[in-house]
Amino acid sequence: MFKVEKEFDFANKHESLVIGLFDKPTKFSEKLADLDKFFEGQLTELEKSGDISAKKKAISVIHTFGKTGAKRLIFVGLGNETNFSFEFLRQAFGRTFKKIKDAKLRETAIFLDSFTAETVELQDAAHAVSEAIALSTYQFEGYKQKSNEPEVNLETITVYANAADEDEIRASLMVGYAYGKGTNSARTLVNTPGNKLTATDMANYAKELAAKYNFEVEILEKEDMIKLGMGALLAVNQGSAEPPKLIVLKYQGKDEWKDVIGLVGKGITFDTGGYSLKPKDGIVGMKTDMGGAAAVLGAMEIIGELKPEKNVVAVIPSTDNMISGSALKPDDVITSMSGKTIEVLNTDAEGRLALADAVTYAKHQGADYLVDVATLTGGVIIALGTETTGALTNNEAFFEQVLEASYEAGEPIWRLPLFERDKERVRSSKIADLNNSPGREGHAIMGGAFIGEFAEDTPWVHLDIAGTATTNKEHDLGPTGATGVMTRTLALFVERFETL
Ligand code: BES
Ligand code: ZN
Ligand code: ZN
Repeated sequence: MFKVEKEFDFANKHESLVIGLFDKPTKFSEKLADLDKFFEGQLTELEKSGDISAKKKAISVIHTFGKTGAKRLIFVGLGNETNFSFEFLRQAFGRTFKKIKDAKLRETAIFLDSFTAETVELQDAAHAVSEAIALSTYQFEGYKQKSNEPEVNLETITVYANAADEDEIRASLMVGYAYGKGTNSARTLVNTPGNKLTATDMANYAKELAAKYNFEVEILEKEDMIKLGMGALLAVNQGSAEPPKLIVLKYQGKDEWKDVIGLVGKGITFDTGGYSLKPKDGIVGMKTDMGGAAAVLGAMEIIGELKPEKNVVAVIPSTDNMISGSALKPDDVITSMSGKTIEVLNTDAEGRLALADAVTYAKHQGADYLVDVATLTGGVIIALGTETTGALTNNEAFFEQVLEASYEAGEPIWRLPLFERDKERVRSSKIADLNNSPGREGHAIMGGAFIGEFAEDTPWVHLDIAGTATTNKEHDLGPTGATGVMTRTLALFVERFETL
């Protein structure tokens, strides 16, 4: 898909040539001086008249009428160079390539040097462009009967990069593309309805991923869970006609199985709420309740592609949360794999139950560090809205590493407090060790705090993506629906991870 070229020639034939244009201080001086000269100063004139804009994210298309091999010049406004950032560039590229897709171009070239500044080097720009291409052109295929109109996709992108080392640019393009692709896989899983993605389907998907990337894979069946005493995960599945699965993937990038990072993702394929039934408006969309699992699987795909020297165990508890004569009821008391007993006050707080046993299992598999990701609470949406993922931790230094990765991935997270007094609330059952729903107050904290009881002393970060896993606004890096949030954060976090 990507071709890297060092030398640019005006005669080279392209459907379009994408060029970055800074408003300040350069405009058509410096890197773009030759281009403007080739057009005898016309580009500067067009900028003055407003036909080409250097304003942030403005996109101006100029036809060349055969004057250059490129049929069109697509200028991307980059604003003031002093405010230029990697995250802005990724978004600007997203907007640009959406436009190129809408124009049904199969081929384009990009003058990558024009997208660099002191804050963003050529290699970063290469990562940004390939990641943005993958993310921004994503579409969920869906189930409509096919129309006759053939789909036109961007197939070839020639990247002009005046770099010392073309292989480095190629490598960065590959890495960015892997990040984008892995995120898109997560999006597709989340967008898939519950009848088409059962726990069994998710387990099969994980097996295929394992075969492709040589991961060790283990699928625990209901009988295995019974033997292991996974009473919490089993309780969630109790009302279902679909068997539960505990999906385990292991990636070993170090010689020894040590310093293991556990990635645990909530894989509820549909959440009715159970007997604490969701209202009819709140139940629609609950096919996305496996967004945490999707992020973990997406991250594993990226890890499989990039093969960092790290050890990772991914654990996904998967089931739907249904109602039947055998379903879990409020007031029931269950026993988790850890031995801790739980009074179930609300069957709709099922994610924390499933995750409790998954966290315990991850530790049994040697996880020395834990990150759990879950569409866990409506409360996090009330607390932080839909742009920011909520986080909790029991270890500041560990949290810093996740925070750093999220910042770089452009997926903001914000930490909520977790004090002893909060922990006391999840321990406040009169008849069991824990209760799964201590009430509405601060309930995003309560959800995380409950999972923390099972992480115990293992350094742990909890990410609540209930607000961020989906969006109802089309954005520069994707359509409405699933965002694939935390896929890139997790993968980047693993890549960069340093033992505490
Ligand atoms: N899956 C939901 C959380 C959710 C809400 C995800 C909205 C995405 C969008 C979760 O299982 C749930 O129902 N949580 C309850 C917890 C409560 C009963 C303590 C909630 O947030 O209301
Ligand atoms: Zn629920
Ligand atoms: Zn749920």
